[in-house]
Amino acid sequence: MADQAGDPLFQSQDPIFDRKELLHVGHVPDEDRIVGRDDEIESVAAEIGAITRGDPPNNVMIYGKTGTGKSLISRHVATRARNAAQGNGIDCGVLYVDCSEANTETRTTRQLALSLKDGTDYRENIPVRGVGTMEYYQHIWAILEDCFDAVVVILDEIDKLDNSNILMQLSRAREARKTDAYIGVIGISNKVKYRETLDERIDSSFGHRELFFHPYDASQLREIMRNREDAFQPDVLADGTIELCAALAAKKHGDARKAIEILKEAGELARRTGSEIVSEDHIKQAQEVAEINRIEELTSGATVHAKLALYALASHIITGERETYKTREIYERYVGICDLVATDPITENGLYRQLKEQAFLGVIESEKTGGGRSQGSYLLHRLVTDPKHIVKAVRRDASLEELPTYDRLAETGPATGGRDTDLSSFD
Ligand SMILES: Nc1ncnc2c1ncn2[C@@H]1O[C@H](COP(=O)(O)OP(=O)(O)OP(=O)(O)O)[C@@H](O)[C@H]1O
Ligand SMILES: [Mg+2]
Repeated sequence: MADQAGDPLFQSQDPIFDRKELLHVGHVPDEDRIVGRDDEIESVAAEIGAITRGDPPNNVMIYGKTGTGKSLISRHVATRARNAAQGNGIDCGVLYVDCSEANTETRTTRQLALSLKDGTDYRENIPVRGVGTMEYYQHIWAILEDCFDAVVVILDEIDKLDNSNILMQLSRAREARKTDAYIGVIGISNKVKYRETLDERIDSSFGHRELFFHPYDASQLREIMRNREDAFQPDVLADGTIELCAALAAKKHGDARKAIEILKEAGELARRTGSEIVSEDHIKQAQEVAEINRIEELTSGATVHAKLALYALASHIITGERETYKTREIYERYVGICDLVATDPITENGLYRQLKEQAFLGVIESEKTGGGRSQGSYLLHRLVTDPKHIVKAVRRDASLEELPTYDRLAETGPATGGRDTDLSSFD
């Protein structure tokens, strides 16, 4: 075979990236690259730590927005707890289930049973198909009884589970004499209201503590990215790029995953354009793309009417002088826009509900304002993001690509309308 390493076609070094894998979405950073979450690490450790001394741990629920380190920190602390326990002669296991995939009790218990068995000398066969939840529980209890003193079970994205019976089973296992092993559960969710959805019986038997992970601030994001600077070739990152990236990401969302993605995208941009350095401009451009993607993700499940409502609000802001608009104003413009894309408008009340949904998702903010005694109160809506990004994200929907671009809207200016964009009828 030819010596492939010597083929000049593949020899040129990547001018921008050295260890690009450090910036991949699925990359799990080593322990020494986890920064800015010391308090959270300690809080989780305080809840499950008793396990390392042979005592019963607390169950804990971790809440927080996307990209705030919930999954990473949980696995990190659980692994350290297991190592510490083992150092004290305690047979401790760590189990991780992503409930967005294993979204039924059967799937979750199957995965728990199979991963528990892994690495032990448990002899019984655990069928992958054709058996129910009860049989998987039986295997779980049997393996725990035979091979473990304690186990930490991480149930990530727990709100995706179709029922939460498993919480009761795990927390009552000792009481019900299923096993003597201590079980500590770490549940993770980005729905703060998850607890309210729990059956009272389950909630009381699960008896857990709650922790909240807040979005990262600029200095934490800076630290996280600095710790991965070696993803780039030496001297490729211009001064101030990481700071800028951290500042922009902190202002928008405080999501570590997105901040790292922006840094990577900026590197790609630099490479594509043949630049030798990654500059602040590359970061700004990458951030724009990332923000549009984020808005598109947030709105992807929205109806065409919700998208048109957002577009109507964005176009008001672009062509008008205010940042906030009333439901009625948005509705009037929305009706005109429906005409442009040959869609039948829904009622004003229907549109109001769509706006509320978008406020819940965090795309807009709505505020109740008193309009004086004679007028009553009304809602004022504002966009949380740049209207430019909304226009772009909405136009990515194939059925709405005919809508005027940001530039065309901006040309139109305040209330001048103009045949070009056919917006004259909106005011
Ligand atoms: N403190 C940190 N130090 C270093 N990297 C981090 C840190 N927090 C997050 N990251 C990076 O961001 C990625 C996302 O973090 P993580 O998966 O823990 O977020 P999450 O809160 O579970 O988000 P989601 O709700 O979307 O699942 C991690 O894989 C890691 O690369
Ligand atoms: Mg997660």
